[in-house]
Amino acid sequence: MKVLVIGGGGREHALCWKLKRSDSVREVVCAPGNPGIAADARCVPVGAEDIEGLMALASDEKPDLVVVGPEAPLVAGLGNRLREAGFAVFGPDKAAANLEGSKSFSKRLMYEAGVPTARFEVHVDVDEAIETIRSWGAPIVIKASGLAAGKGVIVAQTEKEAIDAVRDMLAGNAFGEAGSQVVIEEFLRGEEASCLFIVSGDTILPLASSQDHKALLDGDLGPNTGGMGAYSPAPCVTEAIADAVLKTIARPTVAALKKRGAEFIGTLYAGVMLTDEGPKALEFNVRFGDPECQPLMSRLQSDLGEVLLAAAEKRLDGVKLAWKAGAALCVVVASDGYPGSFEKGQTIGGLDAVEAAGTTVFHAGTAEKDGAIVNAGGRVLGVTAVAESVGAAQQTVYRALNELDWPGGFYRRDIGYRAIAREES
Ligand SMILES: Nc1ncnc2c1ncn2[C@@H]1O[C@H](COP(=O)(O)OP(=O)(O)O)[C@@H](O)[C@H]1O
Ligand SMILES: [Mg+2]
Repeated sequence: MKVLVIGGGGREHALCWKLKRSDSVREVVCAPGNPGIAADARCVPVGAEDIEGLMALASDEKPDLVVVGPEAPLVAGLGNRLREAGFAVFGPDKAAANLEGSKSFSKRLMYEAGVPTARFEVHVDVDEAIETIRSWGAPIVIKASGLAAGKGVIVAQTEKEAIDAVRDMLAGNAFGEAGSQVVIEEFLRGEEASCLFIVSGDTILPLASSQDHKALLDGDLGPNTGGMGAYSPAPCVTEAIADAVLKTIARPTVAALKKRGAEFIGTLYAGVMLTDEGPKALEFNVRFGDPECQPLMSRLQSDLGEVLLAAAEKRLDGVKLAWKAGAALCVVVASDGYPGSFEKGQTIGGLDAVEAAGTTVFHAGTAEKDGAIVNAGGRVLGVTAVAESVGAAQQTVYRALNELDWPGGFYRRDIGYRAIAREES
């Protein structure tokens, strides 16, 4: 079959890489893709948020399957448009994508469905929000309800910080429309994990567990980013916990959506806090995580094209996933200065040597300039290895990264430390 992948980041590179290695797939086209993706797919310069451009591209290319990588086009209704035009689509319609597009919608749905999650209130009025903050006290969590590219959540250690955050969002317009509603949440303690599911109607197929590191600096310190590294499996997600997440979080959520007339087809990503009272849902995403997708695709043995087409065509029932034993780990190399400003256009050398040392280099924010690969975004590379354990995969990646020739690049030195401590004990 011919598959069209929408997006151009590290997640989409991992998807194209795996699709190209699927027996069922003859051709992969990616819009817009990036220079790394060009090794695995034919890239077409149509942006992932250009809905009309993508519709025209789909009607030219006539793919047998469209896989939508990022959340923004899903929340904008690309899934609906493509399905209405008769395409098989992996990615939810707008109504189901609201699970990620609106945190207030998502929390209310969880509450109705009895999904374990932090206590919450939704506010549009600054004074009422402040009243809640004063009565609950700190630590407390303030979230812009709409899409904010991972920057809309403040885990406030003091009431003042929380009050400043609601003022910024509701009165200061810090996140525009996305911050016109805020969700105030009880602070949950525990270790976080990513639990992803391939969903097609009533069928829910769990993927292997994974964990990412959102903080910029070693020791999980510093500001939050889009993700500085990830690995699979996450040893903290025992079989019993995975089962509880499926039964108490994923299933009731998909059922509650269906009750509202929104059938889910795509990846349901539950961000989960493993608390003393059991796993609680922090949020949902409606697509693969980036960078969790990179280790997950590296470990997946099944034919990805077949699995995603089965989901799109609602015949996922009975499909089983096979995984490589051991573990995979991805270290993100970012531009120095990210998540703040940085200089673009710096030449990145040594990529072949990094791969020759036993890794796959997934491209995210790269571009091509005069025949060289240069940085063009904050998160630039996802260097990924598969090995017998998280610890062994980590060693392979860091050894390979010694071959990278990019003085303006930056990466964490401790990706996977929690899993490795568990492996060692
Ligand atoms: N209720 C909560 N208690 C403690 N930490 C939280 C809570 N909600 C979110 N967080 C922290 O904030 C991060 C971002 O929140 P999340 O809801 O996943 O939003 P997004 O990924 O859209 O920015 C989480 O990964 C988690 O570390
Ligand atoms: Mg999140």
